[in-house]
Amino acid sequence: MKRIIGKNLIISLSILFITIAIAVIISVTLIHSKTLNNSLTKKNIKNSDKLILGFSQIGSESSWRTRNTQSIFEAAADNDIQILFDDAQQKQENQLKAIRSFIVYQVDVIAFVPIVEDGWDNVLQEAKDAGIPVILVDRQINADPSLYAGFLGENGVEEGRRAARYLVNKCKNRSGDINIFEISGTENSSIVEDRARGFREIISTNSKFKIIHSENGDFLRSRGKEIGDILLASNVLENGNTTNTIYYNKQKIDVIFSHNDSMTLGFLDSMEAHKINPKGKGTIIISIDGEQECIDAMIAGKINCVVECNPNHGQMLMALVKQIARGEPIPRITYNYETVFTEDDNFSKYDPRGY
Ligand code: AHR
Repeated sequence: MKRIIGKNLIISLSILFITIAIAVIISVTLIHSKTLNNSLTKKNIKNSDKLILGFSQIGSESSWRTRNTQSIFEAAADNDIQILFDDAQQKQENQLKAIRSFIVYQVDVIAFVPIVEDGWDNVLQEAKDAGIPVILVDRQINADPSLYAGFLGENGVEEGRRAARYLVNKCKNRSGDINIFEISGTENSSIVEDRARGFREIISTNSKFKIIHSENGDFLRSRGKEIGDILLASNVLENGNTTNTIYYNKQKIDVIFSHNDSMTLGFLDSMEAHKINPKGKGTIIISIDGEQECIDAMIAGKINCVVECNPNHGQMLMALVKQIARGEPIPRITYNYETVFTEDDNFSKYDPRGY
């Protein structure tokens, strides 16, 4: 009897031992395959040992933007950095999705152009938790600064100040009110807010400068034309002719301040459609970006001043990506070089703009 009980005990212990051993083998296999799967995800998109940069662009609303994207691709190729690219087609929700997919792919660095200022905290926290550094390009955000490594782009406040300084100087001998019609870009974007702030800071030093209307043209040429069409319809007189003076709510407009070249060009398209000669107009036109087409329009006497916004961020971005990959900190803010072009410049000394 005792022998039977002993035998059963030995059998039970053996079964228990075999079960535990199988369980251990299964869990070790599962843990191993999860690691393999993760490294496979990264390997799938990796050519070699190149650094991988996940880059989310907001779209292609202007020639400026197209050049901005090109510059980043060119510089990535020069620096042997692989890009995972996403075009958000002007939607923040697409940018959020793109950033989340970069996190899943375990890219080395994420860079993105934030279309608007707010709503980034959660996704940036996710990138931080995954140990992936983030660089903001071109536009800034309202978020805890510890959630991203740094910003690279233009100084929007200074661009606005430059536009206003040109105007103040141009009108230094004029008395009476100077009425300004502003065409701004994407709402709740840092660039629009910065340019508007810098512009107002300078014109507010003289009460003759008055912004009589401000309208959002979404940085699009089509919207610049639309805004022009509505405004200029009132310029057509009863006899079918047009006046060269532009009015808004019966107030004469002295200045058009447009936040980008695309909208300015759209506005010029509308002037031409309404047979208003932009050369003979009494309106000062100030634009921002520095696209070749706008510089040509300035040479032709249609625009008075173009404040440069430099889209060539590529080489500077790749330098920052490599710095981060070496484990070095990057500056909180890196500004690109920018200048101002005016109707009085000698254009023979300028190289083609390239955008
Ligand atoms: O954020 C930069 C602005 O966005 C440029 O002025 C404009 O052309 C672009 O669409």
